[in-house]
Amino acid sequence: MRLFVAVPVPEPAREQILRLLGTLREAGWPVRWVHDEGLHMTLKFFGEVASERLDVIAEALRFAANGADALGLELGDLGAFPSRNRPRVLWVGVQAPSGLELLQDRIERGCEAIGFPPEGAPFQPHITLGRVREGQRLPPTGLEDHAEGFERVPFVARQLVLYESLLTTAGPRYESRMTLDFGP
Ligand code: 2AM
Repeated sequence: MRLFVAVPVPEPAREQILRLLGTLREAGWPVRWVHDEGLHMTLKFFGEVASERLDVIAEALRFAANGADALGLELGDLGAFPSRNRPRVLWVGVQAPSGLELLQDRIERGCEAIGFPPEGAPFQPHITLGRVREGQRLPPTGLEDHAEGFERVPFVARQLVLYESLLTTAGPRYESRMTLDFGP
């Protein structure tokens, strides 16, 4: 099974992103936009994992998230990986208190201890909007030109979810395998 752990995007951030996606989809770009369901901010991607490992992953996540409080986050700038000049993945950044980085680091260490190597790149909190189709390039139109009315709203993350990503012909579908609530 293909697994990753993420913070699902709650209201009012979800509404802002859905509105933004609505405008972007009309731009006619060669991009596979994410589905409206399952908007999330990934903290750790495991890739393909034998289903027998689900329990040990769940335990590592419970341990890493133990005592974590709800996080006050805020939507940030629009951006692209690997760069704005060569966009492959389009995203909305997330501004976060140090608690998010601490949590992500605890997850990274906990997962390393059970055999998942840490990410090479530094953690950059983001919510993916879409992926440029293979072999295609984006026109030089800025993302911001299609973001009229988009507000960098504050929101509160109260959950961590271990998702299974099911690859279908209509794109990936995400199913929750475990939910952890933050806070007391
Ligand atoms: P992304 O948001 O930056 O695209 C499910 O695929 C989630 O895992 C996505 O949110 C994706 O990140 C993240 N992810 C991280 N590394 C990945 C990889 N090598 N392949 C696919 N998804 C990855």
